[in-house]
Amino acid sequence: MADSKNVNPGGSTTQAGIPAVSDRNSLTVGPDGPIVLHDHHLVETLAHFNRMNVPERRPHAKGSGAFGKFTVTEDVSKYTKAKVFQPGAETEMLARFSTVAGELGSPDTWRDVRGFALKFYTEDGNFDLVGNNTPIFFVRDPMKFPHFIRSQKRLPDSGLRDKTMQWDFWTQNPESAHQVTYLMGPRGLPKSWRNMNGYGSHTYLWYNEAGEKFWVKYHFISQQGVEYLSNEEAQQLAGQDAEFHRRDLMEAIDEGNFPKWDLYVQVMPYEDAKTYRVNPFDLTKVWSKKDYPRIKVGVMELNRNPENFFAQIEQAAFSPANMVPGMGMSPDKMLLGRNFAYADAQRYRIGTNFQQLPVNKPIVPVHTYNFEGNMWYEHTGARSYYVPNSFEDSYSDEEGVVPSSWEADGELVRQAYTLREDDDDFSQPGAMVREVFSQQERDDLVDTVSGDLSQVIEPVVSNAIEYWKNIDQTVGEAIEKKVRG
Ligand code: HEM
Repeated sequence: MADSKNVNPGGSTTQAGIPAVSDRNSLTVGPDGPIVLHDHHLVETLAHFNRMNVPERRPHAKGSGAFGKFTVTEDVSKYTKAKVFQPGAETEMLARFSTVAGELGSPDTWRDVRGFALKFYTEDGNFDLVGNNTPIFFVRDPMKFPHFIRSQKRLPDSGLRDKTMQWDFWTQNPESAHQVTYLMGPRGLPKSWRNMNGYGSHTYLWYNEAGEKFWVKYHFISQQGVEYLSNEEAQQLAGQDAEFHRRDLMEAIDEGNFPKWDLYVQVMPYEDAKTYRVNPFDLTKVWSKKDYPRIKVGVMELNRNPENFFAQIEQAAFSPANMVPGMGMSPDKMLLGRNFAYADAQRYRIGTNFQQLPVNKPIVPVHTYNFEGNMWYEHTGARSYYVPNSFEDSYSDEEGVVPSSWEADGELVRQAYTLREDDDDFSQPGAMVREVFSQQERDDLVDTVSGDLSQVIEPVVSNAIEYWKNIDQTVGEAIEKKVRG
């Protein structure tokens, strides 16, 4: 007999629903004898426990999120026919925020870029916008991404994180300068997820009902205001409460204090991309807000916490490939690389049919010609298994130029983007240091970078000092002085 006050009088069951006899004592030959193999309940309990985990996300392992709704408050129908962005549309959604480099148990307040992943359950199927809290990124070719993530993770021999490896990667890839400046500045330590902006970062394509095309960048601006932690606060919190950001979001929503973000887009007319002074598809650059002012679209509100973390957050699967009619990819090589990477990771991490799980399932019926596989759950009944068929089972058959098309020409090459008038790696981060950061923020930047470099070995220290001098001579010299004494 169980003696716990919380005992369910009905007892528990096995996974087959059969009444389980005991969750406390295994079946033995006499009270002091060996356990018998036919104690199915024990075997099932031990075996299932061994399989409780799925692999953590390779990047962005640590995070959490909430459900909510996105409401369109303005009229942007002249730019896109996407139903999710039509005037007055209200769409259920999920957001997940994360750090990039830390593993599942790592502190929320380590300095890092933060993920800002959104899933909109639209009438045209799921639209995912998988962005960050910064409008740019470290590299501009997907070939470099696995190298970049490995440099932020752990050494293969000792399993330790290593500042030399991080700074070596960054300084060997000077296109990282803009994102590294963001990261080493205040934005690397957001006070909470509620207090940070989100960006789609890439340039995406929108097209309207008439087929006119535009290039867009998404900006989610926090209604809570953007606030940061100091290095000291972040370090202290990392020790006190590794789940500080997760808890903050959960508590705010539980208290009915629903966080909100205003969505704006920068819209570039299709033809402008050919002559704009920076390559508008280069993910290490921003577009000037003077050239392309922000246009308001609507409001995102998070108002419902997950009821089961594993089912709704850990098994959530976001992918930049999930786009709906009215939008499309751009020639950004990073975006095109990401198009492949996410669903591939999720087939491995969650399983072949991850899209059938409730959190990933669209609100509209799925009529796919992909069938079966591990854990296939939705029955198709008697229907055609192939296309074309003579039994009126519908299939898609559009031909010709696709509405989200863009032109490309030339030989097959392995080469960086063609440079434009203002395409260099240091001007935009330099302008940020000089024109956006306050004097206090510049001083903090020098402290943060020189603190990091005190753990770095040569020749990487010298390379890093040079890198910062290229961004801003004064800041570079101040870092050099602190590091060299
Ligand atoms: C070629 C470059 C990139 C590759 C190959 C890549 C690949 C991946 C992969 C494999 C995951 C794990 C997915 C999963 O297991 O569910 C992931 C997660 C994520 N990535 Fe990327 N990534 C790239 C660039 C970016 C960029 C530029 C951004 C932001 C603008 C970004 C934002 C995110 C976010 C927010 C997550 C977490 C999604 C979630 O919350 O589940 N990634 N990335």
